[in-house]
Amino acid sequence: MHYLITGGTGFIGTALIDKLLRDDHSVTVLTRQARQDQAPVKFVTSLDSIPADTHFNAVVNLAGASLAGARWSAAYKGEIVSSRLATTERLIELLRRLESPPEVLLSGSAIGYYGHHGNELLSEEGAVVPGFSQDLCKRWEEAAMGASDIGTRVCLLRLGVVLDRDGGALVEMAKSFQFGVGSWIGSGKQWLSWVHRRDVVAAIIFLQQRSDLSGPFNMTAPEPVTSRGFCKAMQGHKSTLFSAPVPAPVIRLLVGEMADELLLNGQRVVPARLEAAGFRFALPTLDTALGDIYG
Ligand SMILES: NC(=O)c1ccc[n+]([C@@H]2O[C@H](COP(=O)([O-])OP(=O)(O)OC[C@H]3O[C@@H](n4cnc5c(N)ncnc54)[C@H](OP(=O)(O)O)[C@@H]3O)[C@@H](O)[C@H]2O)c1
Repeated sequence: MHYLITGGTGFIGTALIDKLLRDDHSVTVLTRQARQDQAPVKFVTSLDSIPADTHFNAVVNLAGASLAGARWSAAYKGEIVSSRLATTERLIELLRRLESPPEVLLSGSAIGYYGHHGNELLSEEGAVVPGFSQDLCKRWEEAAMGASDIGTRVCLLRLGVVLDRDGGALVEMAKSFQFGVGSWIGSGKQWLSWVHRRDVVAAIIFLQQRSDLSGPFNMTAPEPVTSRGFCKAMQGHKSTLFSAPVPAPVIRLLVGEMADELLLNGQRVVPARLEAAGFRFALPTLDTALGDIYG
């Protein structure tokens, strides 16, 4: 099968491509940097360069400026939004132009879609609390839904915090543990809905294969933890001398607005629709996931 992947050079995209290549698929990657093709991977820097008679079986849309890439100035927040919306809008233009549209678009989103929540368990039906991430995800999802007009099935990937050994959020989250200090953020009571990257890749392929499935899917492991629970789980895999919170005012000083949006508030999300469809997580608990990562 032939996949088109935006953001295929990123943390999730590279793992997805590794798996697709192992399964003998071919991949076209949209990237901002010109790269040498490595058959069966082809790189394009513009979607306009793709001929109308190209057929993609599936499109995976992951491109976007990292939320943790810089302090959230007005300009950087603008880039976070426009990098996702503009890429998705151009992608929909391409799909409209293709002589045979892809069967499925699997498009990025995040559990930030739900906004800030307390202890409430959130399935895909969960209530929405307005905020920056919520607005971003809503607009990103709406843009992707444009593909349904041309008969392409759309699955929205509401990603939790993706964990693996060589990148992603865990690099920062594990920093204090490397120095023997366990830490949690603020009260430690905020929920952290995580997922192992291998399960994200498997869930994307599962959704691609299941032509009966569409709409939003929470891409989180079945057992979210609190920030303090995360610290405790990490201590099972990294020896620490002591543990302590990073107080809310300190984290606000360090990272600014991002602190309240991403770190001091959270969501307790469950993958209700994936599980109902029969998807089985290889690494369903944080202990098994961290065991795999730090094994
Ligand atoms: N990882 C997570 O924990 C997580 C959680 C929730 C949601 N998500 C979402 O899932 C998607 C993939 O996540 P990831 O962790 O793989 O992200 P990533 O490693 O940051 O990769 C994203 C890719 O987007 C492209 N990109 C970066 N800045 C861009 C810009 N200004 N304009 C257009 N493209 C840009 C880059 O590709 P090039 O440099 O090749 O152009 C990059 O490889 C992201 O959109 C992210 O928001 C991820």
